[in-house]
Amino acid sequence: MEITVFSNLKGGIAKTTTSVNKAHILATVHNKRVLLIDDDKQGNASKFYRLHGYDHPSIADVLIEKNYDIHNAIQHTRYANLDMIAANMNLLTANLKISMDESREQQTILKKALEQVESEYDYCIIDNAPDINISIINSLVAAHSVIVPIKIDQYSFDGLEILVDQFEEVRKFNPDLNFRGCLVTQYVNNEVNRQGKAYLTDQTQYPIFATHIRRTADKVDESTFAGLPIVEYSPRCGAAKDYLSFVEEYLGDKQ
Ligand SMILES: Nc1ncnc2c1ncn2[C@@H]1O[C@H](COP(=O)(O)OP(=O)(O)O)[C@@H](O)[C@H]1O
Ligand SMILES: [Mg+2]
Repeated sequence: MEITVFSNLKGGIAKTTTSVNKAHILATVHNKRVLLIDDDKQGNASKFYRLHGYDHPSIADVLIEKNYDIHNAIQHTRYANLDMIAANMNLLTANLKISMDESREQQTILKKALEQVESEYDYCIIDNAPDINISIINSLVAAHSVIVPIKIDQYSFDGLEILVDQFEEVRKFNPDLNFRGCLVTQYVNNEVNRQGKAYLTDQTQYPIFATHIRRTADKVDESTFAGLPIVEYSPRCGAAKDYLSFVEEYLGDKQ
């Protein structure tokens, strides 16, 4: 099972949109077994797949309960190959509880829990909150790779250095963590976006995906209301095509 985390200190840059759509494309187009984990107390990815609520165990239980059977927190989506661990506001107190619990190693709880389903899924995708807290550190310690979605605007690169420094910190626990790349999202074909992408490509050492995700006014927002992945909601729109290309690039199918 390959574990990939979507992280950025900023909100509104399409971490959740990318996580839910990548999970859907891997499961339905590439026929992979996928586990999507919502690691944001806002629970947007959970709401997207209609799995938000308080009646079922969530990521908070996985993180707090000792010797927890992670299967208890896994729910099926309506897609055969796509399962999910949801999040809700319980993650807020879970973060505090883990930080105060000195009876066990706080950073490796999720990594150990995910070992239970190592052979049950091909891919695990974790959608993070715009933050650095102990549940996010847990996701980075568990992961093989991290992808940083970026929306190019005046503030796009704020916090990027802090985030990348954090990856370095996490390597104490997870030396092989691979910064797989920045993914430019909500791309508009204008000077600011062209220059921003060129800056990322040529003037930083950060890796970057060749594919960018075009801003597709209305369709992406509508798809979240409909709770439908973009390739189902509007298969011909730019964002749908770009997410398909992104997943191909991620899988290394592109020449
Ligand atoms: N390619 C896109 N085109 C248009 N709107 C988008 C696109 N990607 C994301 N959005 C919209 O941007 C907003 C923020 O996206 P979201 O995935 O929730 O960001 P984050 O998880 O980083 O906070 C949402 O309203 C979403 O519908
Ligand atoms: Mg989000």
